Amino acid sequence: MSKNILITGGTGFIGQQLVDQWLQNDHQITVFSRRPEWVAQRWGGRVTAANTLAQLGERYHWLINLAGEGIADQRWSEARKQVLRASRIDFTRDLADWAASSEQQFECVISGSAVGYYGRLSGSAEQQTVTEQSHAGQDYAARLCQDWEHAAKALAPRTQRLITVRTGLVLGPRGGMLQRMWLPFYLGLGGPIGSGGQYMPWIHRHDYCRAIHWLLDSEAQGAFNLTAPEPVTNREFSRTLAGTMKRPAILPMPTPMAKLAFGEMSDLLLFGQRALPERLLESNFAFDFPSLAPAIQDIRTRW
Ligand SMILES: NC(=O)c1ccc[n+]([C@@H]2O[C@H](COP(=O)([O-])OP(=O)(O)OC[C@H]3O[C@@H](n4cnc5c(N)ncnc54)[C@H](OP(=O)(O)O)[C@@H]3O)[C@@H](O)[C@H]2O)c1
Repeated sequence: MSKNILITGGTGFIGQQLVDQWLQNDHQITVFSRRPEWVAQRWGGRVTAANTLAQLGERYHWLINLAGEGIADQRWSEARKQVLRASRIDFTRDLADWAASSEQQFECVISGSAVGYYGRLSGSAEQQTVTEQSHAGQDYAARLCQDWEHAAKALAPRTQRLITVRTGLVLGPRGGMLQRMWLPFYLGLGGPIGSGGQYMPWIHRHDYCRAIHWLLDSEAQGAFNLTAPEPVTNREFSRTLAGTMKRPAILPMPTPMAKLAFGEMSDLLLFGQRALPERLLESNFAFDFPSLAPAIQDIRTRW
């Protein structure tokens, strides 16, 4: 059945793919964006663009809330931290206020979060393993995710189901973190970061979008880890990416160099989480790309 869908972050690396797929299924889509002209150009008028909440007059069946300034785009100065928070937490609060005042009754709301929720983990595989039952961390990124999830709870009275997606590193062609890694690895300049033993919970964008459709069509609610069932260490990730390109992965980035280059943001590279998608697996979701090597091979053919 055709749904009326509102998506924030619909112009992003993940959101564009979701919009393309919904269009194929004849859904009605509104993209909330600061760049409505870009939206009109990208989808040739087949989606509605809105850049203020006041423009959202209709009833929507589904709300997908993915808007947020790029977490790894700039060093985390105090001003940048504020921007990262405002674009997620303040924005989600505004969205909840709008949903209340316009008396929305969504069937399902999916709101963003990330595996950073679980905090900076290190040590053995067991010490880094987390599921949706695990405790939240205390560092900056962990608090950002918790506060983002908390802000989304204000949408609960306006929806039959509220889901938060604790997302790992999303891999796909020409975008996301992989785009930054592609050239250095292609030039043979890639390698492990820090100890290389920190886990990188990843997910192919193809499976991410399939999981979103799966969750929308299910009875699910609450938090879900959107990560592949076979997370790898940073060392294995580097080796697999370089191996796919038939390049060596021998140039490591030592911890002090990462700290110097990225400041506090180096947390994202030097620590990890072996996040498992326990709830997706319990719901019998089948990943098309559970293992990293075939995922990267697939992405390479589409680059
Ligand atoms: N990609 C990943 O590996 C990954 C991993 C974990 C979590 N996530 C989260 O998932 C979400 C989507 O990721 P993505 O990779 O698709 O992101 P992206 O490509 O960087 O796109 C970000 C989106 O957020 C919107 N946005 C940015 N700043 C905004 C602001 N100040 N106010 C309102 N909207 C703003 C942008 O819309 P306009 O420019 O059109 O306004 C854009 O559509 C993000 O929130 C991200 O934190 C992503």
